Amino acid sequence: MVSFSQIKNHSIVKEPGSFPRNFLFGTASSCYQFEGAFLSDGKGLNNWDVFTHEAGHIADGSNGDIALDQYNRYQEDIKLMEDMGVNSFRFSISWARILPKGMYGGVNMAGIQHYNKLIDALLQKDIQPLVTLAHYDIPQELEERYGGWLSPKIQDDFGYYGDICFKYFGDRVKYWVTINEPNVMAVRGYRLGTFPPVRCSDSFGNCTFGNSEKEPFIAAHNMILSHAAAVTIYRTKYQERQGGMIGISLNTQWYEPFSNSSQDNYATQRARSFVYNWFLDPIIFGKYPEEMQKILGNNLPIFSRNDMKKLENGLDFIGLNHYTAAYIKDCLYSVCEHGQYSSWSEGSYFRATEKDGVYIGEPTAMDWLFVYPQGMEKLVMYLKDRFNNTPIIITENGIAESDNPNSSLEDALNDTQRVEYMHNYLNSLANAMREGADVRGYFAWSLLDNFEWLEGYTKRFGLHYVNFTNLQRTPKLSATRYKELIYNFQSQL
Ligand code: NOJ
Repeated sequence: MVSFSQIKNHSIVKEPGSFPRNFLFGTASSCYQFEGAFLSDGKGLNNWDVFTHEAGHIADGSNGDIALDQYNRYQEDIKLMEDMGVNSFRFSISWARILPKGMYGGVNMAGIQHYNKLIDALLQKDIQPLVTLAHYDIPQELEERYGGWLSPKIQDDFGYYGDICFKYFGDRVKYWVTINEPNVMAVRGYRLGTFPPVRCSDSFGNCTFGNSEKEPFIAAHNMILSHAAAVTIYRTKYQERQGGMIGISLNTQWYEPFSNSSQDNYATQRARSFVYNWFLDPIIFGKYPEEMQKILGNNLPIFSRNDMKKLENGLDFIGLNHYTAAYIKDCLYSVCEHGQYSSWSEGSYFRATEKDGVYIGEPTAMDWLFVYPQGMEKLVMYLKDRFNNTPIIITENGIAESDNPNSSLEDALNDTQRVEYMHNYLNSLANAMREGADVRGYFAWSLLDNFEWLEGYTKRFGLHYVNFTNLQRTPKLSATRYKELIYNFQSQL
């Protein structure tokens, strides 16, 4: 299959083996974690507004009602970006701000105006917007009307939403991500029940109903086809004229086999398939990975002829949210201890963060995040080989500190672990590029400390410190060093 990206020129030009002109360097964000203004100017409620308002879901009982108030403070934040010398910014559009009732109601023009102002202000400073359409949030209306991602109806809704965004913003936005981390939404929302809509049928979460064997795969299927619906509209109505690129962003850990046994090697292959090829294979090859088909059988939905047609529109780049790595141990042929089976999917493997008492990398404030910079190069090279050097954008990479009310502001600003982390991950990315990987950009997560989903405001991923009482922003060491890191990176290639 020849994908559209192979026959079309994009705004980023890359000669084989050379450093791409206009490589994107930026920071990433999302609307629910940043914007606030949750009821302002006609915005509708979304699933996260509702979920965070129910007691018990978020570690510190907080929510994104106000978040960092970026809705009102975007000028100030653009100034911070300017000071860092970045040339792009990744943010997401709030679906319910544009379409409070999805396709069952009108377009909220106040929402359109807000993003127009944000985009114009960025471009005025030569900062390219990279825009995500859905970063975990969907209008609550769609959840209530037909069960959100569980219904095929969402495909048309998402396509319609994409259409509106391309129409109003596509003259200036040249990089689109359809869905952020659909793999995380499918598993947490429908298997573990820790994200809205809190569905699962096992003991992991606090769920009311659901079917953990089937629903993650149904939701994912609808996400894949929603991506395809939006891309099809972009290709047919806008791309020729607007000349941008469109992709999808996945949560991607690097997996190392726990041992060099053939079982652990095969388990590692399964882990990659059940976590990221789950989405990339259908979008790029038009079918689910073989390991999934074999293990899931009838629990894996099937693509119709019509679906296949839409899937042919593929993607122009693979977005990687990459933070960490883990060891993978087989549980299909070997007996794993009780409770060691992956809760992530049905792939019958165990995800271990240590071997013989030694962690895979340096531990951090997030229990899942170990520093393993080599994983960046290995992951990029793995995807380069599997997907025929499809362009890649690192849409997130970063590290958190725990909020510590007893430490001084001075300490909080001295984020040497983050500086080191970014330095080493960028070096690793540069290695992959030297080996020929077609990487088009890198976005640090995140511009500011923000609302970290289930962790609320207790984990700080920002290159800028935010005082959550008065919302004052202060650059950490990493914000000032990012400029230098960008320079170092470029001079290495
Ligand atoms: C990925 C998600 O896209 C983002 O929203 C989140 O804050 C970071 N990972 C850190 O966990």
